[in-house]
Amino acid sequence: MKNIFNLTQTLKNLFMSESKRLFNFSAGPAVLPIPVLERAQRELLCLPNAGASVMEISHRSKEFEPIIQGAGSNIRKLLNIPESYDVLFVQGGALLQFAMIPMNLLMGGTANYVVTGAWSKKALSEAKLVGNTRTIWDGNDTGYRRKPSDEELDIANDSAYVYICSNETIEGVQYQVFPNTNGIPLVCDASSDIFCRPLDVTKFGLIYACAQKNLGPAGVTVVIIRRDLLERSAVSVPSLLNYKKISEAASMLNTPPCFAIYIVKLVTDWLLNDIGGLDKMHEINKEKAALLYSAIDNSDGYYKTHADKKFRSIMNIPFRLPSEELDKKFLNSAKEAGLVTLGGHRSVGGLRASIYNAMPREGVATLRDFMLEFVKNNPYNRHS
Ligand SMILES: Cc1ncc(COP(=O)(O)O)c(C=O)c1O
Repeated sequence: MKNIFNLTQTLKNLFMSESKRLFNFSAGPAVLPIPVLERAQRELLCLPNAGASVMEISHRSKEFEPIIQGAGSNIRKLLNIPESYDVLFVQGGALLQFAMIPMNLLMGGTANYVVTGAWSKKALSEAKLVGNTRTIWDGNDTGYRRKPSDEELDIANDSAYVYICSNETIEGVQYQVFPNTNGIPLVCDASSDIFCRPLDVTKFGLIYACAQKNLGPAGVTVVIIRRDLLERSAVSVPSLLNYKKISEAASMLNTPPCFAIYIVKLVTDWLLNDIGGLDKMHEINKEKAALLYSAIDNSDGYYKTHADKKFRSIMNIPFRLPSEELDKKFLNSAKEAGLVTLGGHRSVGGLRASIYNAMPREGVATLRDFMLEFVKNNPYNRHS
């Protein structure tokens, strides 16, 4: 009897430890708000009044309609988007936008690209496959540590659009002030910082973000586009890649990623109702980022970030220790302490803490405390 009890207890412990949520600093797919996961769990078997889960009903049903419309209107509310813009839900992740943007907006012209890190560089290389591009700034020589000033941008008057990435997820470099393009549509990849702060949408021609960082699960990408730009989409652009056709079909040319859109609806409900909007979210994010940056800045050079101070991201914080051995030791010990996915992007190594909207303050404070302890327990003699 006692043995059976022990066995049951062991299995229970195993189950408990395997299902324990850790502080997950992944750059994406990333942490989601607990209330969102709890609600999705409650509604997983049966969406209220639908008799089935959201994955099992028609995307054209009266039960799904308020979900996709609600997600769209929540996004409008959060960013205060005027009627002159449409909000689209598309598939193919951010990477497909790298190609869809020139396919729809170039119209045989040339686009100007601002290359501030790995993601804008990749966007440029995809756009080159579609049409003419011109690089008007590239931060490669200085290791992608900052964004350029307006004076450094030589924007051609006839440019089809100017392309930027608001937050370079790998380098942790974020725009604080967006460039003035003198009326030329500004196109922005906001995949890793959408909803981290308020944004004046009217400064942009198009803003897009894949969902798997601040919006929901992978599978859906949100595109906010000024309606006059929809007229640029040529009829020869295949339907599913054509902004105008997607807009006319209210993002339902074919079956949309229903579950992902449902989670976007819940995440935006959470931002509006639990957090209280983007001003509040921004305050929380600034405070969380400051916890880590102060640990870094007060470490007497033990921890080093990548970005110049003025352009530091409040979403992704890459950092290094004095040696690769210490980087590795930090990563392993952090994991043992329940602080996971802190490895830097595979292309650059080091460490990176992604502290998106849904990362609780407690998670960031725990990491900060861990960093302070780690320095004490692993001193580094620069002269040895
Ligand atoms: C800024 C940025 N752009 C684009 C991408 C690519 O996104 P996806 O995997 O959805 O194509 C990422 C992914 O990490 C990103 O951080």
